[in-house]
Amino acid sequence: MRYDGDTVPPQSTRPASISLTTPSASYEIVIGAGLLASLEKCLTKLLGGNLPRVFVVTSPEIWGLWSQPLSASFSDPPTVIFLPSGERHKRLASVEALAQQLALAGADRDSLLLALGGGVIGDITGFLAAIYMRGIRYIQLPTTLLAQVDSAIGGKTGVNLLAGKNLIGSFHHPLAVIADTNTLATLPPAELRAGLQEAIKSGVIYDAKLFRFMEQNPDAILAGDPAALTRVVTASVRVKADVVSKDERESGLRMVLNFGHTLGHAIEAATGYKKLLHGQAVGWGSIAATYVSLARGAVTQKEADRIIALILRYGPLPSFTAKAEKLVALTSSDKKNRSGRRAYVLAKGIGATEIVYDVTDAELVVAANEMLALMKKLGA
Ligand SMILES: NC(=O)c1ccc[n+]([C@@H]2O[C@H](COP(=O)([O-])OP(=O)(O)OC[C@H]3O[C@@H](n4cnc5c(N)ncnc54)[C@H](O)[C@@H]3O)[C@@H](O)[C@H]2O)c1
Ligand SMILES: [Zn+2]
Repeated sequence: MRYDGDTVPPQSTRPASISLTTPSASYEIVIGAGLLASLEKCLTKLLGGNLPRVFVVTSPEIWGLWSQPLSASFSDPPTVIFLPSGERHKRLASVEALAQQLALAGADRDSLLLALGGGVIGDITGFLAAIYMRGIRYIQLPTTLLAQVDSAIGGKTGVNLLAGKNLIGSFHHPLAVIADTNTLATLPPAELRAGLQEAIKSGVIYDAKLFRFMEQNPDAILAGDPAALTRVVTASVRVKADVVSKDERESGLRMVLNFGHTLGHAIEAATGYKKLLHGQAVGWGSIAATYVSLARGAVTQKEADRIIALILRYGPLPSFTAKAEKLVALTSSDKKNRSGRRAYVLAKGIGATEIVYDVTDAELVVAANEMLALMKKLGA
């Protein structure tokens, strides 16, 4: 396959390794095709010798698809504990059930958990590792694009409450993140496209080359071409690792990762977390954030057109019905609001951002209405 981007992916199949270093942890995020097949070797190297007892936390579906290479890599197969798939299982009751299974299976302070799955499995397993016997080690083995480019990195773990998403949790970094890009081959296309919206976000906020690569190679990326996808995952991971390394606890810079998420979260809430995948809501939210950026002169018309065209190219984004005012009202409960001030992330050209604190509800209503008008036009 020929790539016409200026960041041609390496032809070698050597995995990429990206470091994340924060005041509380330092670890590698390894990205490559077929990494699950050499997992035991990789873990032994990472732990400097003998492996402790290893427990895999996963769902029956993911285990059915990906147990073979993982199990075959171990001389002594790990114990597997299951959690059903789905966001509705991301709750405290699941953590208790998993902890009980761990205890009954003899997991101790030295045991190692492997989180094999998407963001739901990763967030729960990370939280379980944070509190089981007051904290044990774990490794993220992300199998969705969203988990590989976003949720597996950065140490945020937790579960939902009925009152809201991710309201219980802790920071607990994994020992490593090992992203086998082969696993993306079995992802439903909508999940792949939703994850690509987070990659576009990374391009917009931080990496103009990634943005251009995605502009120039949509067919290869959307067809799941391994080299093209690995290029996108690696660049997106670099953005997240770089940002988290500079601001672990989201006191400043880490907020830039929230581009498109202010209205994105509101859209998810307004549609009952059912109609859109997270990445799809972020796609619409990013379009609205681009309109705000344009109105404030932070991007030119041409840049705004490019950002919106790229988001739509990796669609389709499902349409939904909501009033702009309702969406904006829902942004007021966003966790990122500190002391009543709304931190809002603007695109500053392509590849940079500006965080502002004076975006008014009226401005957001205008942008949300522009987004809804575009949705109507596309659906017409
Ligand atoms: N911790 C963080 O920093 C962070 C960041 C972003 C999102 N999140 C969380 O991530 C979660 C969403 O993650 P997600 O989008 O990965 O959803 P998910 O974990 O629900 O996975 C989506 C679906 O894909 C299936 N699946 C997973 N891997 C597969 C594969 N290789 N082949 C086929 N099917 C596969 C799963 O069983 C599930 O049905 C949310 O709970 C969100 O709050 C956390
Ligand atoms: Zn997101």
